Amino acid sequence: MADSHHPVWQNAVVVAVEDVAAGIRRIVLRPELPRPTRPGEHVDVRVLIDGAPAVRSYSVVDGTHGGGQLAISVFRTPASRGGSVFMHSLEPGQLLEITQPLQNFPLRVGAPSYVLLAGGIGITAIAGMAALLRRLGAEYRLVYVGRSRAAMAYLDELSALHGDRLRAHVDDEGGALDVQALVDGVAQDAELYMCGPIRLMDAVRRAWAERGLDRTGLRYETFGNSGWFEAEPFVVRIPRLGVEAVVGSDESMLEALEREGVDMMSDCRKGECGLCQVKILDRDARIDHRDVFYSDRQKEPGTAMCCCVSRAVSAAPTTTSGARPRAVLTIDVP
Ligand code: FES
Repeated sequence: MADSHHPVWQNAVVVAVEDVAAGIRRIVLRPELPRPTRPGEHVDVRVLIDGAPAVRSYSVVDGTHGGGQLAISVFRTPASRGGSVFMHSLEPGQLLEITQPLQNFPLRVGAPSYVLLAGGIGITAIAGMAALLRRLGAEYRLVYVGRSRAAMAYLDELSALHGDRLRAHVDDEGGALDVQALVDGVAQDAELYMCGPIRLMDAVRRAWAERGLDRTGLRYETFGNSGWFEAEPFVVRIPRLGVEAVVGSDESMLEALEREGVDMMSDCRKGECGLCQVKILDRDARIDHRDVFYSDRQKEPGTAMCCCVSRAVSAAPTTTSGARPRAVLTIDVP
């Protein structure tokens, strides 16, 4: 049985690609070992970034296609870590290596009520849950936040399916989500499932904790793909091992250190398990914590970070020539 620790890899053929929103491409795959998927599942995909192999995770948006197909949707940002650029270059007929669907974000059936919260591309992890809850006749609300309607994938389909259970908050229409009001309106015994930008999820986690709601009622998927600052290259040094590497804006610090041959520990590679944490010995940089492993209090001193997702950002001002000196981080690894 496949799980995130022992994934079963397989080949998959790209069957179709289609743009479904600004910067978002739907990619339909036909895996060689097809099986039905459950809401919240994702596949890991082997991608090439500047010719080097890396693994990226994408939620299965729709795994009930006929003919054993599954669909994922990939957002390409200007500050892409590189995986999405590769994914957007795929064309029908190409072969890809993917895992069997993996479950890190299961929907617990049987709660008295549900709030599903999706920000941007996070809808890919949430849409299947909403569809299942609707089929089950469960009590649920779907809250979908986006920059503009053009950037919100599947909005029309979701609106047709969920009617007034769907509430869309569109930033450029002045409809930004009031996180405090959302959490204040959650029933005491409800469960909230969310996937979206880290700042949205951080705000919800804070409001959830302040209201004293049961921690187990709040569940999320991160994929560790968005931070407080644009990703930029920075230098990481490990004096004890004599290692110095430049972390490109399209790769993680974990990937850069592995490339240098450093023996790193990791598991989730998306800021959830804390296995990849490193000790920060010195820095002339701000730390862009992109994980959900540490509490705000643990992040505050900037003495440790999850290197699979978190990054360093230059604290120096931009010079008159428009250049900005690279951030330098000195760390040690366990
Ligand atoms: S590997 Fe899990 S937090 Fe980095």
